[in-house]
Amino acid sequence: MKRIGVLTSGGDSPGMNAAIRAVVRKAIYHDIEVFGIYHGYTGLMNDEIKKMEIGSVADIIHRGGTMLYSSRCPEFKTVEGQLKGVENLKKHGIEGLVVIGGDGSYRGAQKLTGHGFPTIGIPGTIDNDIPGTDFTIGFDTALNTVIQAIDKIRDTATSHERTYVIEVMGRDAGDIALWSGLADGAESILIPEENYEMSDILARLKRGHDRGKRHSIIVVAEGVGSGVEIGKEIQEAMNMETRVTVLGHVQRGGSPTATDRVLASRLGARAVELLLEGAQDRTVGIHNNQIIDLDINEALKMPHKVDQKMVQLARELSI
Ligand code: F6P
Repeated sequence: MKRIGVLTSGGDSPGMNAAIRAVVRKAIYHDIEVFGIYHGYTGLMNDEIKKMEIGSVADIIHRGGTMLYSSRCPEFKTVEGQLKGVENLKKHGIEGLVVIGGDGSYRGAQKLTGHGFPTIGIPGTIDNDIPGTDFTIGFDTALNTVIQAIDKIRDTATSHERTYVIEVMGRDAGDIALWSGLADGAESILIPEENYEMSDILARLKRGHDRGKRHSIIVVAEGVGSGVEIGKEIQEAMNMETRVTVLGHVQRGGSPTATDRVLASRLGARAVELLLEGAQDRTVGIHNNQIIDLDINEALKMPHKVDQKMVQLARELSI
């Protein structure tokens, strides 16, 4: 293999730049040429493909977002779109592709491998919902952004003796809510993977109130439903002054943490190695701090599971 491509797709995540850098530098280290595909699968179909050099990825390791830009591209779900993408890659003499993104991006990668084009997936999403890896690139940074926000909210919640409902991202996964809720000592954490009873949340609030606690933090994953609605229900049921904060896209930005930069560097380098070893359809990940890889088709069949021990721990510590 003499020429490879790299693209980022779907919701961006902090650390994607560090992953692009690792792919480019590792490839050049092995005398492989690298082409950047701009705007994800949209750019792949529109032939937005340019050669990258060592200097193309200088000064980006600490930056959030993605220098290759990103897109969500429904057209790539069509066979015509996919074949157009393969044709463009071949036109540039590109023999293998690295796709950095979340599950939607992985499905695109799976299609490319189905058309016989060697493709390796790198898990890049704040949601931490990609099977086959303990952590995705961007999760740690998003988590730190969330806990900084909740720490600030806690200050004002304490001053005004209010209950705060904080809605966090994660799409259908509860990892951001669970980890940030645990890290911030939230009274209740609502995640889509676990049923919840409003009566339990109210009972917890009452228990706290009865022993003199005058403020509370409840973290809600967006996959559960609207934080605003949950806040209204609590206010009405408890007659407690309640405010709601929807953290939104602030969770997707910012300089990546050291953990995300290192993870991105390790995964990016391994993805290139796999292409050089002749792999066709793998995804890279981290498990027990070891870099692993598995079949992308198998990975996509695995359900995302939330860590039950963490769920239990969060319950036990927020009595
Ligand atoms: O997948 C990352 C993510 O930020 C999810 O947490 C969220 O549901 C979604 O993307 C938001 O997508 P968009 O930026 O397209 O509104």
